[in-house]
Amino acid sequence: MKAIRIHEFGGPDVLKYEDIPEPQPGPNEIQVRVIAAGVNPVDWKIRRGGMKLPLPMTLGFDVAGIVNAVGSDDGGFHPGGSVYAKVAPPHGGYAEYTLVDVSHAALKPKSIGFVEAAAIPTAGLTAWQSLFDVAGLEKGQSVLIHGAAGGVGSFAVQFARWKGAHVIGTASAGNAEFLRSIGADEVIDYKTQQFEDVVHDVDVVLDTIGEDTFERSWGTLKPGGFLVTTVANVPEGAAKSHGVRAKHIMSQSSGKDLARIAAIVDERRIKPIVTTVFPLAEARRAQEMSENGHTRGKIVLRVAEEPKQSGSY
Ligand SMILES: NC(=O)c1ccc[n+]([C@@H]2O[C@H](COP(=O)([O-])OP(=O)(O)OC[C@H]3O[C@@H](n4cnc5c(N)ncnc54)[C@H](OP(=O)(O)O)[C@@H]3O)[C@@H](O)[C@H]2O)c1
Repeated sequence: MKAIRIHEFGGPDVLKYEDIPEPQPGPNEIQVRVIAAGVNPVDWKIRRGGMKLPLPMTLGFDVAGIVNAVGSDDGGFHPGGSVYAKVAPPHGGYAEYTLVDVSHAALKPKSIGFVEAAAIPTAGLTAWQSLFDVAGLEKGQSVLIHGAAGGVGSFAVQFARWKGAHVIGTASAGNAEFLRSIGADEVIDYKTQQFEDVVHDVDVVLDTIGEDTFERSWGTLKPGGFLVTTVANVPEGAAKSHGVRAKHIMSQSSGKDLARIAAIVDERRIKPIVTTVFPLAEARRAQEMSENGHTRGKIVLRVAEEPKQSGSY
């Protein structure tokens, strides 16, 4: 099968489109024929050597595809079914076939195609787990979302709106209209406004930017509020000294959470925003675009043609 692999850490040059054997499922695994694979910043962070995973490795975490074979514990999945998942290393998503632990997979939302479904896992799970499992966002509360137009942010805006929260998002001016269209009540142009001058007493901040944005976020929270960040290290004692709570989330693969998200997608309450699709062989262009830091929604790799029937479920 074809896969995008790295044999060393480095720049985009280390990405290789090559032939490797199809992986065979172990006891708790399903083999998925990948139709589409989502692209995330973590993919190029790994490529650059930010996490020293064993090499060679196939990159990519997010897939949507069709179950091709199952292990001895099939977890209720059957060949021919349409699924989506966040795969766990050493398996990778930028490939024609991948292996998924049965607890990490869910049935693909029926109302969307494979390309849109592949946009969901990492960004959708991160937004969901940050807002609800970590920060406990409730109906009627307010949330400030930094990087609201990006992968995590565009899901977070929609989930927070779905929950019934008041949503404030930061983005550049060109994304203001877009953010309103997916549910933001207020949009702050981070290039011309200091968000801490205009946002006060929010219940939750979701920071996907870090550094200065993380530091300036403390003062926007109400006492006891929650600052959840996908990127910044939270210094010990910092939350307490600001009278709030804080956590650096490490999002988890979860078939259960993906099933809940699929249900909300199929109720047409949220939708993945896919702005660019590249063929698998052009993963390099996809990563270079993502590294730019200004993706609206998600970039997805098309690995195979969309099947006419979306599986047998
Ligand atoms: N810890 C975890 O489990 C976890 C999980 C997922 C992601 N992450 C990390 O979270 C970060 C975000 O991921 P992502 O997939 O959402 O990235 P992304 O899609 O690449 O985010 C791009 C977005 O960031 C916006 N942006 C750039 N600078 C900004 C600023 N100063 N203020 C507000 N918005 C700004 C851009 O908007 P404009 O074009 O308008 O500037 C763009 O829409 C990445 O570093 C990723 O590695 C961590």
